[in-house]
Amino acid sequence: MKDLNSIISEKEYLEGLSNVSIENKVPIVTYEVGRLLEVIAFIKNPKRVLEIGCGQGYSTYFIVKNLKKASFTGIDLNNKRLLKAKEFITSTFPELNANFYSGNALKIIPDLNLEFDFVFIDAAKFEYPAYLEILLKKLKKNALIVADNIFCDEKIFARYVKEHDRNSVEGLKKFIKLIQNKEFFDTKFIDMGDGVSISIYKK
Ligand SMILES: C[S@@+](CC[C@H](N)C(=O)[O-])C[C@H]1O[C@@H](n2cnc3c(N)ncnc32)[C@H](O)[C@@H]1O
Repeated sequence: MKDLNSIISEKEYLEGLSNVSIENKVPIVTYEVGRLLEVIAFIKNPKRVLEIGCGQGYSTYFIVKNLKKASFTGIDLNNKRLLKAKEFITSTFPELNANFYSGNALKIIPDLNLEFDFVFIDAAKFEYPAYLEILLKKLKKNALIVADNIFCDEKIFARYVKEHDRNSVEGLKKFIKLIQNKEFFDTKFIDMGDGVSISIYKK
């Protein structure tokens, strides 16, 4: 029962974290998507994890909580958020080999001398295809790429998209097409939160 009882206190703790993010106007994954990330990471048991857009570390918590002997790399454009994520994750999981980089993932990733077997993308929607392009050189065979906000508040299904959302929707549509290329990826879409894609890199 110990593990089960701790779920209740963990849920309250996560609600607190989620409220802080909402107060700070940081968009975060839903609780359910967080739990989905937790399950995927537990089953995959990756050794090198990359998160593009780690924010204040709410989604990171779910990804890393069950990792064993893994390294984690978190990137966020917003330095204030990144520092919060670093403080939160390194204090909560002191044994994790975690590195945090503040800046544009498109500039940082090419310089990382690492190959990843799990990547979570949750940053600027219009840039999703560009993230994928630079990731291709940094992925291990059978790496998992999970991406959030695939539905873009259902705008991805709309016939008319407002000017304001056009870049995001176009970026997402291009990303969706790329991850549906069967030569490179085996992809499934999950109707959870704002839509999640899960792709296995075949090369
Ligand atoms: C939806 S929030 C991330 C929330 C976080 N994954 C969570 O659920 O707790 C998106 C984040 O992506 C970051 N971002 C946007 N474009 C980026 C880029 N090119 N490189 C790195 N981070 C970026 C933003 O600063 C923002 O904090």
